[in-house]
Amino acid sequence: MRTKIKKILKSDESILQKKIKVFGWVKTVRDQKSFAFIEINDGSSLANLQGVIDSTNEDFRKIIEISIGASICLEGEVVKSPGKNQKFELKIEKITIIGKSKDDYPLQKKRHSFEYLRTISHLRCRTNTGGAVTRVRSSLIYHSHKFFQDRDFLNIQTPIITASDTEGAGELFRVTTLSDLRKDPKEDFFKKQAYLTVSGQLNAEAFALGMTDVYVFSPTFRAENSHTSRHLAEFWMLEPEFAFGDLHDDVKLASDYIKYMAKVALNENEDDIAFFDKFVEKGLIERLTNVVESPFEIISYSDAIKILEKSTKKFEFPVKWGLDLQSEHERYLTEEHFKKPVVVIDYPKEIKAFYMKDNKDGKTVAAMDILVPKIGEIVGGSQREDDYALLKSKIKNKGLDLNTYKWYLDLREYGSAPHAGFGVGFERLVQFITGMENIRDVIPFYRAAGSCDF
Ligand code: 4AD
Ligand code: MG
Repeated sequence: MRTKIKKILKSDESILQKKIKVFGWVKTVRDQKSFAFIEINDGSSLANLQGVIDSTNEDFRKIIEISIGASICLEGEVVKSPGKNQKFELKIEKITIIGKSKDDYPLQKKRHSFEYLRTISHLRCRTNTGGAVTRVRSSLIYHSHKFFQDRDFLNIQTPIITASDTEGAGELFRVTTLSDLRKDPKEDFFKKQAYLTVSGQLNAEAFALGMTDVYVFSPTFRAENSHTSRHLAEFWMLEPEFAFGDLHDDVKLASDYIKYMAKVALNENEDDIAFFDKFVEKGLIERLTNVVESPFEIISYSDAIKILEKSTKKFEFPVKWGLDLQSEHERYLTEEHFKKPVVVIDYPKEIKAFYMKDNKDGKTVAAMDILVPKIGEIVGGSQREDDYALLKSKIKNKGLDLNTYKWYLDLREYGSAPHAGFGVGFERLVQFITGMENIRDVIPFYRAAGSCDF
């Protein structure tokens, strides 16, 4: 029987004197002649388990064969630790070396730069930061499902391969079996051009208009040739979509969700968040506590432009109404002006996707973005155009092919209803919750322009 390190370290004193078997990877070995210390980690917690073996034990001779990174099994008794770093430790009775680790194991030092760790993505999870990110990420996924399931949203699966460019931004990866790309797409596998999806939204809308409340959690793909700390070519998006609701409901659901995530991290991932607070972003706990406790600022795009125009800050992209907010503007609003998450609503229709519902002013659409300090946009959503004629003219005006969207237009003819939804960039959310600066460090194996290793 295998006992996880987390279980031992979080146990009460009833575990004392119990005989257990632990498996993990060696973090440190210290040979003190009359006894030796081995610290191992199995990924279940930030803290390692310390094992102590006496030189009189016949397995003591194995110590010299154990190097950092090796996988081993320790058997023994849980005892109170005299050291101040841990409550319990293991009095080792038996050591089994499972897999030796070569001397050139790349994680010898205590701290490595994130840049370096990206070159060894296959070993990153064995570092303190890599492990903490992995645990927080998993917890946020579990609780995302819980958040929506508790609200009776149904989890649906939308296709990865699609013929439509939902966002109309042209950042599509093509899917083809043609060896000569100049050939007519009619000769291709799907008899038309196909792509990797940029968002499951359009398909999710079909299910919202039938199941009422649904959500998708899926990989999405964007061929954005950007090398920023917040863009990936393959990332996960969480997309709730609901019928009989408007933009106001959308803003409320998204804000509640983000707050819930911050609360989950503080309550369920205490040790890892304390680690990020200490080594990654000083003041993280306080920031997350503020996210939970204080309401998000909600402002219109037009008001956001006024604030930016009044600021004395020099922006690379000059501010005027109609401009698509750039990262520098988003960050000014949330980092310097409001100093908390900001929901910007009612954007000019020219800069937003075709499916968003027109506002009465004729100039803006019922869109919303949630902006947060250091990252900028983490959520993008809207109320959807539910009127057949209006939607049809929007598709035409954006120069899109009506045939591709026929099924989508159908939804407006067979029991249309006001509906809305949003997409959370899951990696950006993990950055926001952990304080990690680069999006490449919050996904196990990152895909970005020029990087498709591992
Ligand atoms: O704002 P976006 O483009 O919205 C949509 O795709 C809508 N169809 C969602 C919906 O309403 N159902 O993308 C949503 C979020 C962004 O706010 C951002 O957090 C994230 O996805 N995102 C990226 N994350 C990492 N790398 C990229 N290249 C990203 N592009 C967008
Ligand atoms: Mg967006």
